[in-house]
Amino acid sequence: MKIVATQPFGDQKPGTSGLRKKVKVFQQPNYLENFVQSIFNTISPCEGKTLVLGGDGRFYNREAIQVIIKMAVANGIGKLLVGQSGILSTPAVSCLIRKYGADGGIVLSASHNPGGPDEDFGIKFNASNGAPAPEGLTEAIAVGSREITTYKIADLGDIDLDQLGSLPVGDTQVEIVDSVADYAELMASLFDFEAIRALFKGDSFKVCFDAMHAVTGGYAVEILERQLGANVGTVINGVPQPDFGGGHPDPNLIHARELVERMQKGSGMSFGAASDGDGDRNMVLGEGFYINPCDSLAVIAANAHLVPAFATGLTGVARSMPTSRALDRVATALGIDCYETPTGWKYFGNLLDDGRIQLCGEESFGTGANHVREKDGLWAVLCWLNILAVKQMTPEQILRQHWQKFGRDYFSRHDYEAVDTELANKMFSTLKLDLPQLIGCSFQGLQITAADDFSYTDPVDNSHTEKQGVRILFDNGARIVMRLSGTGTQGATLRVYFDCYEDDPERLDQNPQEALHALILAADEIAGIGKFTGRAAPDVIT
Ligand code: G1P
Ligand code: ZN
Repeated sequence: MKIVATQPFGDQKPGTSGLRKKVKVFQQPNYLENFVQSIFNTISPCEGKTLVLGGDGRFYNREAIQVIIKMAVANGIGKLLVGQSGILSTPAVSCLIRKYGADGGIVLSASHNPGGPDEDFGIKFNASNGAPAPEGLTEAIAVGSREITTYKIADLGDIDLDQLGSLPVGDTQVEIVDSVADYAELMASLFDFEAIRALFKGDSFKVCFDAMHAVTGGYAVEILERQLGANVGTVINGVPQPDFGGGHPDPNLIHARELVERMQKGSGMSFGAASDGDGDRNMVLGEGFYINPCDSLAVIAANAHLVPAFATGLTGVARSMPTSRALDRVATALGIDCYETPTGWKYFGNLLDDGRIQLCGEESFGTGANHVREKDGLWAVLCWLNILAVKQMTPEQILRQHWQKFGRDYFSRHDYEAVDTELANKMFSTLKLDLPQLIGCSFQGLQITAADDFSYTDPVDNSHTEKQGVRILFDNGARIVMRLSGTGTQGATLRVYFDCYEDDPERLDQNPQEALHALILAADEIAGIGKFTGRAAPDVIT
């Protein structure tokens, strides 16, 4: 065992979801080691502890896993469960932590960000409940990383990550586990696999799942094709690649282009879905029909009783603040609680642990439930398949029926990427100063009734979080939210969220960008987006 002298890097503060940086940053001598040692120092004593370790297979995954194994051995971790070939989806890590009563886990991923030598890498610590480290723990790791002077690493050769089995290394038992089996078993316990199998029998129901060359390939082939009998070839781009085939593994209409093309009107396809780099996000589509993640969450809530895992009913649900209020309408109708949390999955952990909610989601293609403590892409897909199998309707029919019953919350998010950080900060500080004066003012014929910077007090442990995004509410119930991304690795990413409600049965079929047009113009007038960023239009619209 070696003790290596090191110096802190000033920039190891995790964002919305772990520490994300360019691969080149992680490749600097001691960079990864410092952060990993900060995790071990924070959870110390390490002796006797069990940790789960795996990543989404992106560039630098294997190298990082070898380093972390050696450091875990040197720090005296009792047992390490490592995904075969270093592969574990984020929800699978959460599943393993919970199933084997581990003390935590380390996920190597930058989620939906591109991979490759010049792209992104990331590392995230999950706690013993399987959830992303809560604020306090995250902060303790960040503080530790600013004070670090040494790290410990075992002087040993690389471990064979491809061979399943358990071997003692120093005082640590290193177990290479099947990446898929435990997760697949969990899924089979939650859904009506018989009904989904029946749906796939014959040729009338045609499904496509785009793994985007990322981690869910192996999971989707095993569950959809082998266990549920979907046709071979249902899963496309199913072999994980270190650079995700040069693509951007983000399941949205822009990046999941191949899926979108296959799902066009007239294609005869029944259902399509995609997942992201680490398998926690999902996008679901009908034939030529996009389902907004906010609506997907609401539809799942409204139909949860059809899914065996929720057979006894929901007692509560939650959504992140920028997510549309479609979910709230379902919760009201069901007479259950609906919580509004800051952006980021970590805020759902306490609510799930406390049994206050069973289902939750974010507009950013994140949907999940109490079976693990991460959002879960494939879970959402299976949930939809289960509902489709029971209802025997197309996704489009289900959505239209839902809107007829609850009304429709038009929603869109506009992202301005790689904006000059200083300009973005200036825009926000100006906007925040203006907030009190905005109330009562009108833009595009809409009057502002409330404007604030969202703060949240966790009802379970009373922890308080501030500055979680500017909210501007209008007299017709419409809303604009603006915040800066906490996951970007280049400059600042400005996210502007729009939503408005419509319950006129004749007006449920508009293009969201048209339905939200006045709000979109108002946002620019209120915050001076174009003026501050110099951008005429967003880079990504979802
Ligand atoms: C983004 C999403 C957020 C999600 C996170 C991790 O964070 O907006 O909902 O939880 O990625 O997948 P942001 O970049 O906005 O901070
Ligand atoms: Zn992800």
